[in-house]
Amino acid sequence: MQMKLPFLKSKKDSPSQDNELITIPEHVAIIMDGNGRWAKKRGLPRVAGHKEGMDVVKRTVDTAVKYNIKILTLFAFSSENWKRPKPEVEYLLKLPKEFLHTYLPDLIKNNVRIETIGDFDSLPEHTKEAVQYAKDKTKDNNGLLLNFALNYGSRNEIIRAIKLISKDIDDSKLSLDQLDESLISKYLYTQGLTDPDLLIRTSGEQRLSNFLLWQLAYTEFWFTDVLWPDFNEKIFVEALLDYQRRSRRYGGI
Ligand code: IPE
Ligand code: IPE
Ligand code: MG
Repeated sequence: MQMKLPFLKSKKDSPSQDNELITIPEHVAIIMDGNGRWAKKRGLPRVAGHKEGMDVVKRTVDTAVKYNIKILTLFAFSSENWKRPKPEVEYLLKLPKEFLHTYLPDLIKNNVRIETIGDFDSLPEHTKEAVQYAKDKTKDNNGLLLNFALNYGSRNEIIRAIKLISKDIDDSKLSLDQLDESLISKYLYTQGLTDPDLLIRTSGEQRLSNFLLWQLAYTEFWFTDVLWPDFNEKIFVEALLDYQRRSRRYGGI
């Protein structure tokens, strides 16, 4: 049976209480970290942690749907993760296909739309094929947007944006005085998405590891020592409750 905490209300649940609206973050981003350490603690190979982490992704999606979160951005593979031993990289890049093979029917049933951010073209063919299939299959869904950061690095994303902007200026599609924050946002992989309201990182590390540097400018951060394979609804709800107690001032008073 699913339990809903009475004081954790979604916007939908309390449309008339504008002044004391108990807010659910619209966009949650998660740095899913600690798979390797989880496996090591159990005497298992690192990839066993990644496999376990994959199932936790699905349960986390279910929780996000339950609490009416609109966008869930998950850091699945960074542009720096290519530095890992080849067999681990290969395993990580096979996981999207396995994840979708197992869970796509249920995601479709739950009206989830799948998207990615990152350098998609440089991924292996088999990864691209599986993910593109899921994107196409879910493109008309209007429930949770499940956004995987796959082969994603924020500095690369910013360089790419600068190049695209320069090209559009060269081609006279843009002029320099049009350049402002909203224009830059439009040239990032996250174009059209609101910035994350809440960033969660598991495993005790307190760094961004090149994740969404531009987009996290005013995001609330929440760190936990829990390793990703041990992440669950209870811990997610802890983060949401903590978020509700934050006062977001954006430089105001
Ligand atoms: C997160 O777990 C998964 C990815 C980075 C792909 P790690 O593999 O980084 O696990 P730790 O940090 O080594 O424990
Ligand atoms: C960040 O975790 C990337 C993902 C979760 C996909 P890492 O484990 O790669 O980050 P560092 O190396 O600890 O900074
Ligand atoms: Mg790590």
